[in-house]
Amino acid sequence: MKQRILILGAGKVGTALGLAWLRAGHDVRFGVPVPDSTKYPALPAGRLQPASALRDAQLVVLAVPWAAASTALAALGDLNGVIVIDCTNPLGMGQNGLQLTLGFDTSGAEQLAQHAPGASLFKTLNQTGAENMADAGAYTATPVMFVAGDDSRHKPLVLQLVADLGFDAIDAGPLRAARLLEPLAMLWIDLATKLGHPRDFAFARVRHHPSPQPEAPQ
Ligand SMILES: NC(=O)c1ccc[n+]([C@@H]2O[C@H](COP(=O)([O-])OP(=O)(O)OC[C@H]3O[C@@H](n4cnc5c(N)ncnc54)[C@H](OP(=O)(O)O)[C@@H]3O)[C@@H](O)[C@H]2O)c1
Repeated sequence: MKQRILILGAGKVGTALGLAWLRAGHDVRFGVPVPDSTKYPALPAGRLQPASALRDAQLVVLAVPWAAASTALAALGDLNGVIVIDCTNPLGMGQNGLQLTLGFDTSGAEQLAQHAPGASLFKTLNQTGAENMADAGAYTATPVMFVAGDDSRHKPLVLQLVADLGFDAIDAGPLRAARLLEPLAMLWIDLATKLGHPRDFAFARVRHHPSPQPEAPQ
């Protein structure tokens, strides 16, 4: 079913997701700080709008830097009944380079949910690089993308939107599971930025199919 999606941020993640969902037939708008800027040549004309206008979007996708996320949400005003998809990772610079700035007993997603009372917030689309999100169906094995959130009524819709991108969309449980999904994203980031793995990889779920056993001799 066609969804009205507002993507906050038209950087690497916002552009990849927005263009893929447009191809899948959804109605996508991009909320950006300066809508008449010429720095978004990849985006279709007429789809840029001020980042503070919710208009009639049913879904808001947070694709802004972590430091801007709570302000960007607050700028939208009343989010009662709105679905929010949080793609951010709470990153900052530490002693060993880029690292999570919080975790284990909370998560970025749970903190953001407190800035959006009445909204249904889901954590997903944070677990692989932006360049792998637009055409996830093109992998040798379907990449996995976990979805965490407390709203079981709207979770199937979010899982479908993630599947529309070509992912193996898996329910990871309540929003507190974001405490696991943000470190999973950090593992991807470390592999890609510190351990030399080309960025075109994603995690996948593979199933064990036992090979047929040879028949016992008669
Ligand atoms: N890059 C990845 O591979 C990747 C993968 C998974 C998750 N993430 C997460 O996704 C988020 C976005 O990452 P990205 O790589 O797409 O970042 P990016 O390329 O730097 O883009 C960020 C976008 O957010 C916009 N922005 C900043 N403040 C805003 C506000 N208040 N309202 C609306 N838009 C605002 C920026 O606008 P201007 O251009 O005008 O500054 C820019 O378009 C981050 O939290 C990141 O951790 C990234």
